[in-house]
Amino acid sequence: MRPAEPLYSTLARDNADHDMGSSMDSYLPANRALWDERVPLHRDSAFYDLAGFKAGRCSLKSIELAELGPVTGKSLLHLQCHFGMDTLSWARRGAHATGADFSGQAIALAQSLSAELAIPARFVCADLYDLPTVLTEQFDIVFTSAGVLCWLPDIRRWGAVVAHFLRPGGTFYIREKHPFADAFGDTEAAAPTPQLAHPYFDPKPSRWEGSGSYAEPQVETAHNVAYEWQHTLGDIVSALTTQGLRLEYLHEFPFAGWKCLPGMEQGADGWWRLPGQETLLPLTFSLRATKR
Ligand SMILES: C[S@@+](CC[C@H](N)C(=O)[O-])C[C@H]1O[C@@H](n2cnc3c(N)ncnc32)[C@H](O)[C@@H]1O
Repeated sequence: MRPAEPLYSTLARDNADHDMGSSMDSYLPANRALWDERVPLHRDSAFYDLAGFKAGRCSLKSIELAELGPVTGKSLLHLQCHFGMDTLSWARRGAHATGADFSGQAIALAQSLSAELAIPARFVCADLYDLPTVLTEQFDIVFTSAGVLCWLPDIRRWGAVVAHFLRPGGTFYIREKHPFADAFGDTEAAAPTPQLAHPYFDPKPSRWEGSGSYAEPQVETAHNVAYEWQHTLGDIVSALTTQGLRLEYLHEFPFAGWKCLPGMEQGADGWWRLPGQETLLPLTFSLRATKR
């Protein structure tokens, strides 16, 4: 059953034990097909407002701009860049930007936007864990944001990929949904206010199934099975520090970048909050770290 209003995920979680066995790669075809199909939907969605972006709107969030600061002249690698609006927004601000994603559809659209808008940027199609075999150089900045970590089965290997691509002294920055928010059910049909529904500590993948996407919840889609992973905040931080990154800060915010829980409302500043419960839960975190 669909929620009355679009939430971040239109997928319903199947709580059965999904041990992917010895082949962790079996999740990849399902997730890639789902993301490939989402690209034309998202291109045409109000959620992504591509027309506004083409007219000059910056797709980056206020926190990212304030916390990462000036990027002029810096080389920047954007991991899991989707169809590249954030990558191109950094390029518009003067970065020498490279975006990477495992969706061929996403990379093709990103490349065509770069050409159409005459914003120089490079886009690379590869699974995140294979990227070190595709790209050889190191970067001043590695950036990633908004709905990325849940698609990755191995958070330690993710930390190794981040460290691999940073030059010594380079900066890593992430703004992401707080993993504690994922412990709550996200369908308004099930409960009008947030209810604890899923384990915070959960090493096994979750299988989700449902049509549509967070940007186009009413559209019927063909590729509707996704595998996602829960990573605790401690595991995320440790994945970076054990790879030689020095944590500058870890910030937590009681608002979200999208409607990820029942009852949330969007403020004039664009962030989503729980009305009357503005300090109830951590919903977003940002982290900045430096490679030693
Ligand atoms: C929620 S989107 C990121 C959204 C992006 N921050 C934005 O605002 O448009 C997640 C992205 O992760 C990519 N992705 C998922 N699994 C991946 C993997 N194993 N390797 C590389 N990219 C992956 C998807 O193709 C998708 O573009």
